[in-house]
Amino acid sequence: MKGIILAGGTGSRLDPCTRVTNKHLLPVYDKPMILYPLQTLINAGIKEVMIVSGKGHAGHFLELLGSGKDYGIKLSYAVQEKAGGIAEALGLCEDFADNENVVVILGDNIFQDHFDFSGFRKGARIHLKKVEDPERFGVAELKADKVVKIEEKPKKPKTNYAVTGLYLYDAQVFDRIKRLKPSGRGELEITDVNNSYVNANSMDAQFVKGYWTDAGTFESLFKAAELVKKTRK
Ligand code: G1P
Repeated sequence: MKGIILAGGTGSRLDPCTRVTNKHLLPVYDKPMILYPLQTLINAGIKEVMIVSGKGHAGHFLELLGSGKDYGIKLSYAVQEKAGGIAEALGLCEDFADNENVVVILGDNIFQDHFDFSGFRKGARIHLKKVEDPERFGVAELKADKVVKIEEKPKKPKTNYAVTGLYLYDAQVFDRIKRLKPSGRGELEITDVNNSYVNANSMDAQFVKGYWTDAGTFESLFKAAELVKKTRK
């Protein structure tokens, strides 16, 4: 299985820290943010990873991570020209995926768990975490542990289960992305990709056991650093 880290976007919620660098290069405790999702993939045994970033600071990722040799993996890079959404960024990885299943992680998502993706064959899988502030995320509506719908940042969330930024997809994902229409904010939404799998009855959900946070706001960036520091062995 190949891995994809999506590290695009403007990081506007972290302005002015993101004016001269990319959000995913900011420190979370003692490491640049992107090293955490990269480690999550490495822990799951992924050996080939593509990083998709925006135009501004794409070269900095290469400077930091190089070929991946230091991490025992092979890294490739792709550039998303404009902020067209997470699903658009994923769409750029079709040739890289080469008809294999992929694990996709958002560059600002920090997980404590070690994951095992070896049983995944087809369809899609999301990873849910109970949170206090579901309105900040994609939120899964469940019926007996089965996902029946995902709502992106709902004003009145139906559950407390946030859809974390860790997704498994089969090779169909790229055709599904091609059929998407831009959302109200003009982006191709990962939630729409996920709902297409839900509607096709091929979405599986697992629950995250350890801590999980994004690090895309000052509050969550600070919380991420605290969690990492507290649990570092
Ligand atoms: C994105 C997704 C959202 C998901 C979140 C996880 O939101 O759109 O569904 O719950 O990542 O971090 P964003 O952080 O881009 O606003």
